[in-house]
Amino acid sequence: MRIQQHHYRTIWQTGEHVSIIDQTQLPFAFEVLTLSSVADMCHAIRTMQVRGAPLIGVAAAYGVTLAMRVDPSDQALNAAVATLVATRPTAVNLAWAAHLMQQALLPLPPSQRLQRAWQLAQQLAEEDVAQNTAIGSHGKPLIEHVWMTQVSTGARAPCVQVLTHCNAGWLATVDMGTALAPIYAAYDAGIPIHVWVDETRPRNQGASLTAWELGQHGVPHTVISDNAGGHLMQHGQVDMVIVGADRVSGAGDVCNKVGTYLKALAAQHNGIPFYAAVPTPTIDWQLSDISEIEIEMRDPDEVAFMQGINAQGALTRVRVIPAQSPALNPAFDVTPAHLVTAVITEQGVFTPAQLTQLKHPLKEA
Ligand code: MRU
Repeated sequence: MRIQQHHYRTIWQTGEHVSIIDQTQLPFAFEVLTLSSVADMCHAIRTMQVRGAPLIGVAAAYGVTLAMRVDPSDQALNAAVATLVATRPTAVNLAWAAHLMQQALLPLPPSQRLQRAWQLAQQLAEEDVAQNTAIGSHGKPLIEHVWMTQVSTGARAPCVQVLTHCNAGWLATVDMGTALAPIYAAYDAGIPIHVWVDETRPRNQGASLTAWELGQHGVPHTVISDNAGGHLMQHGQVDMVIVGADRVSGAGDVCNKVGTYLKALAAQHNGIPFYAAVPTPTIDWQLSDISEIEIEMRDPDEVAFMQGINAQGALTRVRVIPAQSPALNPAFDVTPAHLVTAVITEQGVFTPAQLTQLKHPLKEA
């Protein structure tokens, strides 16, 4: 994606190192970090300098590669994979990519592992961009259909109103995004569109990241508090909801940033379509029951404090709850399949019941 005059991805190889955009500084500062070791990568994933399911998958692949730079032995490879997988438990992409690297590298002689690791990590990054581009192409007609209906029924100012939660844009992937890919495709095709951006407490990925990247692209949007979506739906101001996901079951249950479930409930109650946009590596075919998904419990301080800039422009953290009050911070929730209208994938748009038609190597595993 373009930021001012430069085209950026969220992660890329720089010589023998890996560069990332530090997302903990956005939208107030644009900083690129250079990572040199698997420990650097684990830190970046844990602290959410890189985040979003597809991106942390590719980050894990680059993390394994950085480990191979220092020591390409079996022991170092297995240790790197185990450490990376333990950084964040919910997004299936991370464990999927780390294990894919492990299975591809272990059979090779150690002397060949580093070069192959760079190739594989790069390949995963390219596949992510291609998948998200296809998600954009498959999702765009859904938006176009709403617009055409508005036009044909004589709406006064046709404009498709989309609500999204958290950040499932290009910052959550290598490029293009998942939930935002159809939005960018529709906007670029000249379809009038406006996005309601849930702030997404506690870390505010909507307010800080989605709003920023939509603004960079010129897409009209408005940040709303997390509790405003239901009200807007009741008043006819939302045409569709599109979110990303960290893990989707083969039955179509959608695990995504906490608060997604409430939006899906409100959408169904108001007759509004609810879509999840996901590349197939986000579908967990091994899952027999959604209770098996480990919901990441993050530091309660993310609830107790908020980050922003003060009047002097300095990044500041302020406490927003009483010092004595405990806080609880589950980072994700699961939206049951019956609340999901369809899943937008790189292979097309599928209802939850149709997901079994998808082609994916892991499905057969
Ligand atoms: O905790 P985060 O910021 O990594 O959570 C991200 C989300 O919940 C996204 O919606 C999801 O990963 C989909 S990203 C394309």
